[in-house]
This record gives sequence, C-alpha cells and structure tokens, in this order.
Amino acid sequence: MPATVIVGAQWGDEGKGKIVDLLAQDSDVVCRYQGGPNAGHTIIAEGETFKIRQIPSGVVAGKTCVIGAGCVVDPEVFLGEVDDLESRGYTTSDVHLSGEAHLIMPWHVAIDGASERRLGKLQIGTTKRGIGPCYADKAMRLGIRAQDLLDAKILRQKIETALAEKNLWLERVYGVEPLELEELAARLERCAERIRPFIADTSLLVDRALKEGKSVLLEGAQGTLLDLDHGTYPFVTSSSTVAANAATGVGIGPNRIDRVLGVTKAYVTRVGEGPFPTEIEGSDQQRVRELGGEFGTVTGRERRCGWLDLVALRYAVRLNGITSLALTKLDVLSHFAEIPVCTRYRLPDGTELNEFPAHQSDFHHARPVYETLPGWEEPLDDELPAAARAYVEFVERELEVDVSLIGTGAERERVVAR
Ligand code: IMP
Repeated sequence: MPATVIVGAQWGDEGKGKIVDLLAQDSDVVCRYQGGPNAGHTIIAEGETFKIRQIPSGVVAGKTCVIGAGCVVDPEVFLGEVDDLESRGYTTSDVHLSGEAHLIMPWHVAIDGASERRLGKLQIGTTKRGIGPCYADKAMRLGIRAQDLLDAKILRQKIETALAEKNLWLERVYGVEPLELEELAARLERCAERIRPFIADTSLLVDRALKEGKSVLLEGAQGTLLDLDHGTYPFVTSSSTVAANAATGVGIGPNRIDRVLGVTKAYVTRVGEGPFPTEIEGSDQQRVRELGGEFGTVTGRERRCGWLDLVALRYAVRLNGITSLALTKLDVLSHFAEIPVCTRYRLPDGTELNEFPAHQSDFHHARPVYETLPGWEEPLDDELPAAARAYVEFVERELEVDVSLIGTGAERERVVAR
C-alpha cells in the first residue's frame, strides 16, 4: 500500500485539508511533516466545520495522526485543538507527536510580531504565530523540543537559558516588554503534563505502519511557492514545504514515497506580501474572493486572488515530482463568462518564458500572458459541462500531468474523481 504525499502546488490555501480528509477515509495513518499553527485546514464533514491548525486533518476521519519531527508546535494551540475536538466527540487518543518536533514558545510569537513591526513596509506579512523565530532557533540549536516536556528539570533549564537571551532581544532590540520567567515556566509545565502522553517515536510508528502494508498520507502545509529554498524568498515560510521534505519531516527514507498528489485551486490566491503576476486587476478580484470565501483560516486576512498561473504550476510539478493533481474550487469559476489562464510570462525586454524564472528580479517584473478559455456559467455536478472539462484538459495538456480529482463544492462529497 502506498505512501502518498499531498502537497500544496501554489502559495498555500489550495484546499489540501479537504483532499486529505477525503483520502483519509481509505488510509490508516495521516502525518504532518512541516509547518505549525500558521496552517489552517478547513474541513466540512457531516455538516460540521473544522478549522484545524496543528493536528493532521485525518483526525476528523478518526485515523492515526502523526505530527512529525519537521513540524513546530505551539503547546497551547495544540491543547486547544485537542479540547475542541474532544468536546465535539472526536477522539484524540490516536494523535502522536514526535519528540523531535520543536516547540513554539511565547518569545517566538512576541519576536515574530515585533520583527514584522520593525520591518514596516518591508514586512513579510507572516501569520505572527512564531513560525520563523522557532525554526531560526532550531537552526541555532537553541530550540526546545517536544521531548523536553518529558523532564521537568531539563525543561526548566532550557527555558531559563533561552529566556535570558530572548528577553535581551525583546527589550533592547525590539523595545517591548520582557517575559516573566516564573509565569512562563508554570504555564509550560501545565501544558507539559497534558502533552506527555502524546509524545512518541513517530518515525518508528510510520515505518512500522508501512511495513505492515498500511496506507500512509503525508500532509504538507502551506505550498510550494512558500518553500524556504525554492519559493518566492523572502516572502516564504520558514520550512521546506515541498514533497521531498515529507520523508525528512516524518523520518522515513525518500524511497518509501510512492505518489505525490499536488493540490491546486482552479485559480490562485496568496496571503501576505510578495510578487504575484496573475493577481486580478479590477472588480473581478473581489468577486473571486467573495465567491471563493477567500479569507485566511488562521488570520482572517483577505487573500489576494489571481487567475490560474500555469508557469508557477509547471514549477510546482517539477519541484515536487507531482504524479497527479487535485484541482479544487472549480465551482468558483462557474460565474465567469470567460476565464483567463496564464501560460507564459513576459519580461520587460519582451522575452517570453514557459518556465518559472530562476532570478527574483525576473519574477518581480514578469507579466502574465493569458489564453482566455470560455466559461460554462452553470453549476457543477458530477457530470462536468463541456467547457469545464475543456478547462481541466487544457491544464493537463499544459502541465503533462493528469488531474485525478476535481473539487466542485465545499463538502467532502463534492469531489469528482477521474
Ligand atoms: P509564516 O509562515 O507565518 O512565517 O508566514 C510567512 C509567509 O507564509 C506569509 O506570507 C504568510 O502569509 C504565508 N503563510 C503561512 N502559512 C500559510 C498558510 O497556511 N496559507 C497561506 N499562506 C501562509
């Protein structure tokens, strides 16, 4: 049975949660491999809406869930989610947290906000959940990991060491209030007691599941263009979002991955700052935003909306080794008589590119070259209208990848399998 990576092929918010929820029905284990509470997966199942940030979406389907070593976890957000799920009758007893995952501390959240304020007009537009500062401390080898929660003495020591330095930064560099050691240590100890039973050797757990022939989903957060190495740096998140990192982030070998399902909207959205060639000009942007409900799950921010960008998608297919695509929210386009699709970029000197520009300045100056496809202007059902089919087939031809799933509405069952 296969291990399948589900990866965002754009700037995040592609509707991965819904696709994971759907595929989780036939899977045994669902894992998150990177990111933290900056992600917000929305799942609508049995008339209930779930907005999940830390725990893999598979929890709603009652599957074994793993938060891998490559993730960053905010203990209070995690426990809040556990409480919410339990109070709604969903068990979290089969949720497992890697002892190697790093913890987001209150100073990470404070520094994320302070750093963005300081950057002013140059800000990244982060979710202010402490993601960047937490991954930075991991790389600096100053981080606190989930396994540190298992030993109160070690935990206290690590908090003291880290806070002594972080308070200097908060006060002297950012000019904000320092954090109080005793209060913070007590807060974390309360979390530690509750989190301990969730901590497990998740690499071993996933390896055993694969050896037993179980089916494993590896769920990415954010999207390809937010990847720290290959995305639109510096307007990216601080983890590696691409499919190859699913192996590292969970702790299995890359040869264990069988399939890579890329998830893309039938159009594009982006939250935060940074270049966006196909961003829609004029009132159609607002129309797409409202029709698609394009407001951040975590932050509530308005998402910027654009037409489908096949140059960027071609790049995502390459970077992730995407073996098939899920095209979500096709129904949002049902309201347009004509639908532009970007097939190439044009640079200021007139050069046209099929492939994503390797240099940031070219990407900043790239203008979209559109082909306009006819709309279908009718609601979507299992039997797609001819123009909607033509839209999907156009995408397949341009990218040389099959579209295996098509999202036609918010609910779990509104997906057409091809
Ligand atoms: P951070 O991950 O909070 O550091 O934010 C860095 C960039 O990634 C910002 O542009 C955010 O808007 C973006 N980002 C982070 N998480 C998500 C997500 O789940 N969906 C879309 N954008 C995200």
